[in-house]
Amino acid sequence: MDLYEYQARDLFEAHGVPVLAGIVAYTPEEAKAAAEKIGGVVVVKAQVKVGGRGKAGGVKVAKTADEAFEHATNILGMDIKGHTVNKVMIAQGADIAEEFYFSVLLDRANRNYLAMCSVEGGMEIEQLAEERPEALARVAVDPLVGIDAAKAAEIVAEAGFPEELRGKVAETLQKLWTVFKEEDATLVEVNPLVKTGAGDIVALDGKVSLDDNASEVRHPAHEELEDKAVADPLEAKAKAMGLNYVKLDGQIGIIGNGAGLVMSTLDVVAYAGENHGDVKPANFLDIGGGASAEVMANGLDVILNDPQVKSVFVNVFGGITACDAVANGIVGALNTLGDSANKPLVVRLDGNKVEEGRAILAEANHPLVTLAATMDEGADKAAELANAAK
Ligand SMILES: Nc1ncnc2c1ncn2[C@@H]1O[C@H](COP(=O)(O)OP(=O)(O)OP(=O)(O)O)[C@@H](O)[C@H]1O
Ligand SMILES: [Mg+2]
Repeated sequence: MDLYEYQARDLFEAHGVPVLAGIVAYTPEEAKAAAEKIGGVVVVKAQVKVGGRGKAGGVKVAKTADEAFEHATNILGMDIKGHTVNKVMIAQGADIAEEFYFSVLLDRANRNYLAMCSVEGGMEIEQLAEERPEALARVAVDPLVGIDAAKAAEIVAEAGFPEELRGKVAETLQKLWTVFKEEDATLVEVNPLVKTGAGDIVALDGKVSLDDNASEVRHPAHEELEDKAVADPLEAKAKAMGLNYVKLDGQIGIIGNGAGLVMSTLDVVAYAGENHGDVKPANFLDIGGGASAEVMANGLDVILNDPQVKSVFVNVFGGITACDAVANGIVGALNTLGDSANKPLVVRLDGNKVEEGRAILAEANHPLVTLAATMDEGADKAAELANAAK
C-alpha cells in the first residue's frame, strides 16, 4: 500500500524524523483554517499518490491564509496524471538552503535493501539518476544490520555531504531506517530532505510504501491508512469476500485457479483478443486451489457485476481440487446466481478427473456455458463472444 504524503509525514513524526507542521484539508475553508493555525508562510500541496506534483502545479507557496484559500481552490479538483486531487496538505513553509535526496527500498533482484542518497535533491531526481548516475550514491543495506551509525556514515560519505553536515544527516537517515523497519515498509523516500537556513535537517516530502503482507498480521493499525474511497467498488467487494481480484479495463472476465495460471490466461486472452476487435481481459481473479462452489459463485458474482464484462473465461486446472468438484462448483454457482448470471461463459477444464468434470458440465447443459478443450481455444471463443456483444 502506498501512502499519501501527509500519512508518511505522520509516520515520520511518530518515529522521530524531523518534519514540519502539516494539516490535511478537503476544502478551501479548511485550508485557510489550517494556514491560520500553522501561521506564517505555508505551502499548499496536492495529496495524490503519484510523483511530479510540483511540476504539475500541485505545490504552491502561500504567504497568507487567504492565499492558501485561493491555492486550495485551484488545486482541489485538479487532475495530476489521471489522479483527481480531493485533499491537500497545508505544510509549514520551510526556509530551504539546500535540497538533498534519500531513499531506502527493498531490492528484490539482489535480495537485499538498497539506500540511495544524493546532495542534489529536489524535483529532478529521475533525470539526475539517468544523466549523472555517479551523483546518486547507491549503498547496499544488510537487512540484519540495517542503517546503523556506521552504515549511515558510509551513506553520507558516499553521497558527498560536507563534513559539517554528515553527523546531522546520518542521524536522520537512522531515524528513517527506523520507519522502514518498524513499519515493515518496502520504500521510504524523502525528496527533498532539506537543510534550512538555520542549519536544521528536515524531511519536506515523504513517499512510503508499506508491505501489505506484514500489515495484516503485524500492523492492524495500518488498516486505517487505507484509502477505501478510492478503491474500485468491485475490488472492495472482492476483498470483502476474500478473493484475490484486480480490476482491469477489458471486456473478458477471467477466473482461474493459481496466480501463475491466471497470469498466463491474461496473456493468452489478450493475444486472442487481437483477432477479435482488440478485446482484452477485464480482470485478474485467482480463486485458489480449493475452488468450492461458494468461492466460484463469489468470483462469478463479482465478475458478472462488472458492466464492462461481455464474456467470461473460466480456466481451471484440476489438482488437489479435482475437475469434478470444480464443475460442480460452476453448476452450483450458476444455480445460486440464477438470473444474475447473464453473460456467456467459456469453461476450460484440465488435469485431475477432467473427464468427470466435463461430463458434469455437459450433463448440466447450461445455455450460457460453452466447453473448450484447450486454453487457446477457450481464450479465442471468449474473445469472439465478447467482441460479438460489444
Ligand atoms: N513545506 C515546504 N516549504 C517550502 N518549500 C517546500 C515545502 N514543501 C515542498 N517545497 C518545495 O516544493 C518542491 C516540491 O515539493 P515536493 O517534493 O513535496 O513535491 P514533488 O516532488 O513535486 O512531488 P513528488 O515528490 O510527488 O514528485 C520541493 O522540492 C521544495 O522545493
Ligand atoms: Mg518530492
